[in-house]
Amino acid sequence: MAVPFTAYLFQQGIDDELILLLNEIASATKEIAGKVRKAGLLGVLGSAGKTNVQGEEVQKLDELANEILLENLKNCGKVCQLTSEEVEDCLIVSESGYSVAFDPLDGSSNIDVNVSIGTIFSIHRDSVMRRGREQVAAGYVIYGPSTMLVMSLGNGVVGFTLDPESGNFLLSHPEIRMPEKGKIYSINEANRDKWTSGRLRKFIDFLKENKYTQRYVGSMVADVHRTLLKGGIFIYPADRKNTNGKLRLLYEAKPMAFLVEQAGGLSSTGSEDILDVVPKELHQRVPVILGSRWEVEKCLEFMKEN
Ligand code: AHG
Ligand code: MN
Ligand code: MN
Ligand code: MN
Repeated sequence: MAVPFTAYLFQQGIDDELILLLNEIASATKEIAGKVRKAGLLGVLGSAGKTNVQGEEVQKLDELANEILLENLKNCGKVCQLTSEEVEDCLIVSESGYSVAFDPLDGSSNIDVNVSIGTIFSIHRDSVMRRGREQVAAGYVIYGPSTMLVMSLGNGVVGFTLDPESGNFLLSHPEIRMPEKGKIYSINEANRDKWTSGRLRKFIDFLKENKYTQRYVGSMVADVHRTLLKGGIFIYPADRKNTNGKLRLLYEAKPMAFLVEQAGGLSSTGSEDILDVVPKELHQRVPVILGSRWEVEKCLEFMKEN
């Protein structure tokens, strides 16, 4: 039988606190998966009728996922600080333990149309206001045709698939490595004329001339998951409206950059490696370029000629 998540964690030589914390995250996301799978029957589709600190219209499932994660993580006794996309301030839970930043429900615009969404988490030893390179662990759960938990503890990337019969996350992808080069690019081209960098438009045209295909789900978790497995490049660039891009550093860009680099890929804001950015504000945004080494290096070459 495939190795269950908890057994895998015990094999990694990490401390018991971290094992317990990761298990809490896994059980919270299993609960969220259950709500996602029946959302239409639970009356949790649609808007919650409020606006969050991001200025976004909060969906009912954003709120529910946030409550489930806060409940589990506050009570596990292993956490000192919690940062959520849906909570304005950093929550101080205790004086010791790990700090977790999370996006409880990523891809909210896809909830009501039954397209893959996810949960993203980033774990630091004391504060989440540190460079991404100092993450202790990072990962995501994608609620897709399969529910998968993809994670790195700093020595490669592994994937677990939720087995509906046993209710366990079982090891299904023991070593996720990103192809050196892909043939897919992923960017919201509706914003093309607003991108701050004209050289980015030339890079996208270069990819089209080189027979790349385009895939864009609109849930970062889904677009990054495909990029991890198939290679290629995912970009959410700065534009006239979002001068630092749209994606948040602490619970979207940093954890995904950690996974991408651990899988052999690269990530950048366009001017520096995402893992080297020192956070200044809890919900700060950064432009995101991530994917296979070849495409990311080529993109940075184009953009440097700016
Ligand atoms: P969230 O639902 O957590 O607010 O994140 C949505 C993000 C991310 O999932 C995705 O990559 C991006 O929004 C899509 O933005 P556009 O619809 O502007 O392309
Ligand atoms: Mn949101
Ligand atoms: Mn998100
Ligand atoms: Mn979200």
